[in-house]
Amino acid sequence: KNLRKAVIAGNWKMNKTRPEAKALIEELKPMVADAGCGVVICVPYTNLETALALTEGTNIGVGAENCHWEKSGAFTGEISADMLAEMGVKYVVIGHSERRQYFGETDETVQKRVRAALDAGLTVILCVGELLAQREQGITEEIVGLQTKVALGGVSAEELKRVIIAYEPVWAIGTGKTATAGQANEVCRYIRAVVAGLYGQMAADGLTIQYGGSMNAKNAAELVAQPDVDGGLIGGASLKAPDFTAIVEAAS
Ligand code: G3P
Repeated sequence: KNLRKAVIAGNWKMNKTRPEAKALIEELKPMVADAGCGVVICVPYTNLETALALTEGTNIGVGAENCHWEKSGAFTGEISADMLAEMGVKYVVIGHSERRQYFGETDETVQKRVRAALDAGLTVILCVGELLAQREQGITEEIVGLQTKVALGGVSAEELKRVIIAYEPVWAIGTGKTATAGQANEVCRYIRAVVAGLYGQMAADGLTIQYGGSMNAKNAAELVAQPDVDGGLIGGASLKAPDFTAIVEAAS
């Protein structure tokens, strides 16, 4: 576990106007300044410039919540990885279950977005996770294994160093129904085994695998203490500085 870095990333989703973003980041900066883990905030496109300016020179990394796979062109409403990189954005969440659920994201389009983000020099936070029905059917490993393998198609061992995988059981996202520490660790360990099969044990041991899905100030410590859980991808609890800070402290 000490071969890799724990990272707590906030996924703000569709929240915060620019004034609200400024207020949250200003409040958060001193609270996480001594963090013993990586700290990232992934924010709406409209907040990227504010987040980059306010976090300059701090330990807080800035990410986007999606990107298109083309460099430019007739894709109304879309944002390219190169546009994000040019601004100084360092991370991008790809394959979040909400994009799979509402916006037609597939394992294949995830693979294309991962390629574009890596080519642009970004670090990818790749989301995988099963639906409740799939867990109840007992095919969690098949689902998460396939998502992982397809998403990493064409990714080199060197590029894998710029990938973080976030295991987010869909049934735990926004529901307050958190996976148990054992459930989270079991799937994170399985993902690590899949990556070991693709890239070797050394590469897998160095990969940061986060848990996401109703992680909060109360349950974070037990979750991040698990041997194969290296931090978290945080939705609701990232929107309030004290809550997000408590999770960062638990992972530090
Ligand atoms: O990407 C993180 C998100 O899906 C988890 O959301 O609100 O359950 O922490 P939440």
